[in-house]
Amino acid sequence: MYKVHCLNNISAEGLAVLSADYELTDSVEEADAILVRSADMHEMELPANLKVIARAGAGVNNIPLQKCADAGIAVFNTPGANANAVKELVLAGMLLAARDIVGGIEWVKANAEDPNVGKAAEKAKKAFAGGEIFGKTLGVIGLGAIGAKVVAAAEALGMKVVGYDPFVNAERAAAISADMTFVTDLSELYPACDYITIHVPALKDTIGMVDAAAIAQMKEGVVFLNFSRDTLVNDADMAAALAEGKVARYVTDFANPAVAAMERAIVLPHLGASTKEAEDNCAKMAAQSVMDYLENGCTVHK
Ligand code: MLT
Repeated sequence: MYKVHCLNNISAEGLAVLSADYELTDSVEEADAILVRSADMHEMELPANLKVIARAGAGVNNIPLQKCADAGIAVFNTPGANANAVKELVLAGMLLAARDIVGGIEWVKANAEDPNVGKAAEKAKKAFAGGEIFGKTLGVIGLGAIGAKVVAAAEALGMKVVGYDPFVNAERAAAISADMTFVTDLSELYPACDYITIHVPALKDTIGMVDAAAIAQMKEGVVFLNFSRDTLVNDADMAAALAEGKVARYVTDFANPAVAAMERAIVLPHLGASTKEAEDNCAKMAAQSVMDYLENGCTVHK
């Protein structure tokens, strides 16, 4: 019997994938496998018996990869399993930036007691006028599972898309979208886009990549969206760009103090993958990886 320990709440539907040869254990020390979502494992002592860690999510930056490699512990993630959820929140983020939806809702709530709120709203609405994303240009940095879905959704809404990904060739880019302008240098993407969204992992080369030098190449009044990892953006530089209006709106899924309270920032508490569907999909894929690895020594993401 293999023992599986969950470091975070993992969806019951996902855990149901585990066959009768697996049992859940509260004791991490006796675990053959760990399922984890966002718990930071860097300071954790890895159990002697541990053979595999599966992360119910795309990023693996909460897992000590070198320590695992040294100890012969396999690590899996769940690429694509939450891509639709993230894509939908990116679209919502663009619309929240384009239209003052939050301001409008807050105004109505604040005036809800007024019996003439309907008439007053007609007068107040001028203050909440916005723009449209139709016809605007979206830059997509990173054309993996999430980025590719964002491209398709943005094009379906009438946006033009400029895509960049150093690990994607022209043939793959054309398969993602024949209409997308594929560029091989960010200096071509930054000045061309009204909206820019980033979908890359946090790695040595990507941490801090959205800094003052990158922002300086962007259009005046650009909207920047970060639903990937907080460390990709230099928050002090972003706060300065927001303060001077160079960046009109910063939509981020990471509540960093430098930007969290800023009027032009739209900050969410890491909700990108927080849908029931995504949590189920990630948990199922993670559980399947554990079984594939423990029984066959490998996993194939279908
Ligand atoms: C991911 O890496 O896919 C997300 O961080 C998942 C999550 O929100 O837990």
